[in-house]
Amino acid sequence: MTLSHTNPSAVQAQRLTDDIASVVLEHNGQTIHLRLDPLVPEPALARFDPAYLPSQAQVVASGGRAAAWFVQLPSLDAVLRHFKRGGLMARLVRERYLWLGLERTRSFAEFDLLRVMWQAGLPVPRPLGAAVWRGRLTYRAALLTQRIPLARPLGQCSEPKVWLEAGRVIAQMHQFDVWHADLNVFNLLVDAQHKVWIIDLDRGCRKELTATQRAENLSRLLRSLRKVAPELEATCWHVFKQGYQEVYNDV
Ligand SMILES: Nc1ncnc2c1ncn2[C@@H]1O[C@H](COP(=O)(O)OP(=O)(O)O)[C@@H](O)[C@H]1O
Ligand SMILES: [Mg+2]
Repeated sequence: MTLSHTNPSAVQAQRLTDDIASVVLEHNGQTIHLRLDPLVPEPALARFDPAYLPSQAQVVASGGRAAAWFVQLPSLDAVLRHFKRGGLMARLVRERYLWLGLERTRSFAEFDLLRVMWQAGLPVPRPLGAAVWRGRLTYRAALLTQRIPLARPLGQCSEPKVWLEAGRVIAQMHQFDVWHADLNVFNLLVDAQHKVWIIDLDRGCRKELTATQRAENLSRLLRSLRKVAPELEATCWHVFKQGYQEVYNDV
């Protein structure tokens, strides 16, 4: 997909109370909705296109579904993700989703969830922008987040103290009533200061969590650890749980 970047006319642009702009564009006969942090400068729409040359997009090699790029904004490094399906449905519709209202689109929902988590001080990347290209019954979506520099996935970390921190961070997320729909060892990143970050909140949500739901999140993480780096289970998993149990001692 390549967008033409010539003069998309903003038919409506309003500022949400907390500095996030909500923009509607009519472009090539299509309606496009954007949420934008002030850190995303014009041409804002082009920032969601990996082919936009000034972004110098580089495909993210690890962890994702080959639809994520490291991109450069004038003042910071970001990650651009286009929402794509995995599994069987992908053969039929790779990147189109059923329209159920703007707030329920994948990119706006993730943007809004990241935003409240980020504002609460949880270790998630700052959400920078969300885009939705609306068709008649379906839509495509993209998300921009701030890049965590020098990050590696938790699955590549064998230091127990990092796993202790990861356990604390997941407990904090649960305390904030957030359920992660895909908690795995690629969606927890560790930076150069050994800080643990939670990413990929696609399909996550905020709701009062039962002990069973919290335990499900943890067992999914353990399953992915067993698949990706089984040798770490003996040395790191109990330390992870120790960190988690500082907040919840029911697992
Ligand atoms: N904010 C970020 N900083 C650094 N790397 C990131 C960031 N967001 C995503 N990535 C990298 O891109 C990969 C894919 O992104 P992710 O949000 O997990 O999408 P998906 O798994 O659905 O493809 C991640 O596994 C990670 O390697
Ligand atoms: Mg992921």
